[in-house]
Amino acid sequence: MTRFLSALPADLAGKRALVRVDYNVPLDAGQVADATRIEASLPTLRWLLRRDARPVLLSHLGRPGGRPDPGLSLSPVASALAGLLGTEVRFFAPCDGEGAVRASRALKPGQVLLAENTRFLPGETANDAALARRLARLGDLFVNDAFGTLHRAHASTTGVPALLRPAAAGLLVERELKTLSALAQPRRPFVVAFGGAKIGDKIELLRRFAERADLILVGGALANTFLRAQGVETGASLVEESALDIARSILSAGGDRIRLPTDAMVLVRADGEGKRAESVRSVGVDAIRPGMTALDIGPESRVRYAEALRGCAAFFWNGPMGLFEDPRFAAGTFALAEAGAAATAEGAFTVIGGGDSAAAVRRADLSDRVSHICTGGGAALEYLSSGRLPGLDALIERRRS
Ligand code: 3PG
Repeated sequence: MTRFLSALPADLAGKRALVRVDYNVPLDAGQVADATRIEASLPTLRWLLRRDARPVLLSHLGRPGGRPDPGLSLSPVASALAGLLGTEVRFFAPCDGEGAVRASRALKPGQVLLAENTRFLPGETANDAALARRLARLGDLFVNDAFGTLHRAHASTTGVPALLRPAAAGLLVERELKTLSALAQPRRPFVVAFGGAKIGDKIELLRRFAERADLILVGGALANTFLRAQGVETGASLVEESALDIARSILSAGGDRIRLPTDAMVLVRADGEGKRAESVRSVGVDAIRPGMTALDIGPESRVRYAEALRGCAAFFWNGPMGLFEDPRFAAGTFALAEAGAAATAEGAFTVIGGGDSAAAVRRADLSDRVSHICTGGGAALEYLSSGRLPGLDALIERRRS
């Protein structure tokens, strides 16, 4: 059983609570572009501050590959957090070392310390034991509230809880697990939509879902990989070559429960007379040619996917149907968001999992019209498909030891 905050000792006054949060948020021109994940961490931080604990926060941002990248500094997040929490947030770089330990010890009541991006250090994603030991020195107890990162076995998510006692899951993790457990034995028909570009991460999870869902709608760059696996020409579209075999086996096992787009919105690039012309067109998937890049599902697929949601009892969606940040390729994602809202109004339990799909639902102003928006797509998929998460297992192990 996972231990939650409520199981921590009553007296936390003065204790440094090392909290793993997921502040992997979109940045735009050095500012936080979407603060949802920061807002989602506030209940745990307030809970700790009310008990006079001293929160020291660890997070990653992006995938800097183990070296500092100024564009992925958490410094703008510290300012955004201070504004939302209404308290002083100190920022310290790097996240390990004597300086960070001193900064954690110097925290005054009511202050919060945010340490620099854990992925600036190569040991983070390698779950390096020495780094975990250095990070563990920043706290007297550990709280994991980084729901969106629970599927990663990294130094700050699984290494540190093996070293710090007590270790507990935060309020966000508690809420997410409670909601997702409703999809563990879903009401039927259970429809799942998969999209987005993290193909390598997702395809194995999709295979596991294929055994459980009544219908799977595939969009985004993921769809290109499936189309290519069927022998369809995908032009210049993003395709994960290494995933073609698994895509083929999913298609043969899933049969007509797996729905692929029948048309696409494509970007057509033509070079001529020294000029580069660009146009956007909707084409049947069998008409995609070299020089075309599929960036959204097409109008026919939008209608088919919306129809597929009619009458569903449970719906889980991870990953946008296209490059929705560009208005020319947003219609597929927004149409699915509308269909999800309509299904919710008809009584379906609908969960939107993950940063991009959640951002799309918010941009479509439909956040209040779905049952739940989850803060972690990859983590939700892992949990729903296997019932386990490395970050949770580490907390459970800690309890046993
Ligand atoms: C996410 O955004 O899905 C989490 O923060 C995990 O990020 P990652 O996929 O880079 O590990």
